[in-house]
Amino acid sequence: MLKLAIFGSGSGTNCQAIIDAVEAGRLNAEIKCVLADNEGAYILERARKHNIPAIYIDCAPFKTKLEGAAEARVLETLKEHDVNFIALAGFMRVIKNGLLSAYAGKIINIHPSLLPSFPGLDGGKQAFDYGVKYTGCTVHFVDSGVDTGAIINQKIISIDDNDTLETMMEKLHTQEHIAYPEALQWIAEGRLRFEGRRVKLK
Ligand code: GAR
Repeated sequence: MLKLAIFGSGSGTNCQAIIDAVEAGRLNAEIKCVLADNEGAYILERARKHNIPAIYIDCAPFKTKLEGAAEARVLETLKEHDVNFIALAGFMRVIKNGLLSAYAGKIINIHPSLLPSFPGLDGGKQAFDYGVKYTGCTVHFVDSGVDTGAIINQKIISIDDNDTLETMMEKLHTQEHIAYPEALQWIAEGRLRFEGRRVKLK
């Protein structure tokens, strides 16, 4: 059984899609807790509305990574809530070695571009500004690099001539909300197999 923690920093629409998939029986997982590095993040409110423990983690003094005392508090919290798998959903910090080694192969992320194109911050805007005609989202394992882990699932959208960044991001989010629960369900079913860094489905 996947016993999930979802980490976020913002509005949490991907977290909501995962909650909805669990509640609809499309995803065989239990969401043990939702963590955010921003006290006012709406992702925490979404968790509370579904009676899921919603926990704020103060990550100071670091601005862009999860390390040190905050990482230790996260590890304690995950243990306390019996978490065996982590889904990053708009969590805007780099995961460092303490958490990576405690949850080796058990942390995944969603990124708003077709990796390996446009890693890092604002992947959706990077793709739009570059002028690509097709982009999408990627669900991937988390390793010590920035958006470099093995790819599990991708969905594609077109950027049409009348699209703005906003309309493109709407299409992108719609696909993210399909791709993330789908990837998690594959993991829940034990369907992933690896050939080098290629992830295939059994
Ligand atoms: C999503 O679009 C996700 O792909 C992106 O943040 C957004 C979070 O939205 N993640 C990253 O950019 C990670 N580098 P949400 O809070 O509504 O799920």
